[in-house]
Amino acid sequence: MPVKRKITTEATVEDKKIEQSLRPQMLSDYIGQEKTKANLKVYIEAAKQRGDALDHVLFYGPPGLGKTTLAGIIANEMGTHIRVTSGPAIEKPGEMAAILNNLQPGDILFVDEIHRLNRQVEEVLYPAMEDFAIDIVIGKGAAARSIRLELPQFTLVGATTRPGMLTAPLRDRFGVIGHLEYYSPEELMEIVTRSAGLLDVEIDEKGAMQLARRSRGTPRLANRLLKRIRDFAQVRYDGVITEAVACDALDLLDVDQYGLEMLDRRILETMIVKFGGGPVGLETLAASIGEDPGTIEDVYEPYLLKIGFLNRTPRGRMASPAAYRHLGLEPEEG
Ligand SMILES: Nc1ncnc2c1ncn2[C@@H]1O[C@H](COP(=O)(O)OP(=O)(O)OP(=O)(O)O)[C@@H](O)[C@H]1O
Ligand SMILES: [Mg+2]
Repeated sequence: MPVKRKITTEATVEDKKIEQSLRPQMLSDYIGQEKTKANLKVYIEAAKQRGDALDHVLFYGPPGLGKTTLAGIIANEMGTHIRVTSGPAIEKPGEMAAILNNLQPGDILFVDEIHRLNRQVEEVLYPAMEDFAIDIVIGKGAAARSIRLELPQFTLVGATTRPGMLTAPLRDRFGVIGHLEYYSPEELMEIVTRSAGLLDVEIDEKGAMQLARRSRGTPRLANRLLKRIRDFAQVRYDGVITEAVACDALDLLDVDQYGLEMLDRRILETMIVKFGGGPVGLETLAASIGEDPGTIEDVYEPYLLKIGFLNRTPRGRMASPAAYRHLGLEPEEG
């Protein structure tokens, strides 16, 4: 049985409910990701001035950093509609063709998890993205012929946590590529404060900082923890989230000073205790923890890499001396 993480960065059903209410609607209330935001602003303005659709955009980065949010913002800023689908949801080329055929001029087509599109479906996208056309085959056998169907100008916005899994022909058809990075504690503090305002929760500066520091650079997590801490503040204290309340609640939730929780620590501990600190292969590591290797790679590992607790080498993953120290263990000599 895989160990279920309490505080995964992947979206849960509960998240989806609050995320709708907390999601920034325009670029001006989207906090952080300054480079991506500045670029988008220019491209959006230029496209609007010309009366064109925006160039196709690809967002990549770990879960919960705001890819879906940005897709919605693009539609709002452009004043157009957004159609939402995802890689695994489209099984046949005809389904993709039908979606494309129903787009209105300027529409945004958001394809989440775009790396999971199958090859035949992906091939429908090539002429659609490049020439705003799709080729449809009519008839069978010797009588089969292909006709070209014109599409309105539209913008494809793709999102992925695994940019490396995109094929080159697909990747090359995106004019704008935005890499979303983990947020700084200061940016998360702003996000937490904004969310607290929207949820009508009182939080002071130090409380917000504590929460920001322990949210693994991820707005989704910050918002989720905020909701949990709010409950603590309400039931055990006088409703205000101060530093003491935040610390108390986060400790009870088993979120440590770095924002790591049980499964992160278990990954590190397994590497250190069972595999002498590594190098250990991803599959082997995943098997001994009982997690899916893909989940470890996409969801857990990026933040551990980012804070320097884990290193990737050609021979496998290694735990860093900082990881040993964090777990209160001694690195082996040599
Ligand atoms: N820059 C931001 N400012 C304020 N809130 C943000 C920001 N980015 C994300 N959020 C919040 O975090 C939540 C999660 O973001 P979002 O769903 O866009 O992530 P994602 O990158 O699409 O994740 P996934 O890879 O799981 O699809 C949003 O609902 C929003 O409330
Ligand atoms: Mg998303």
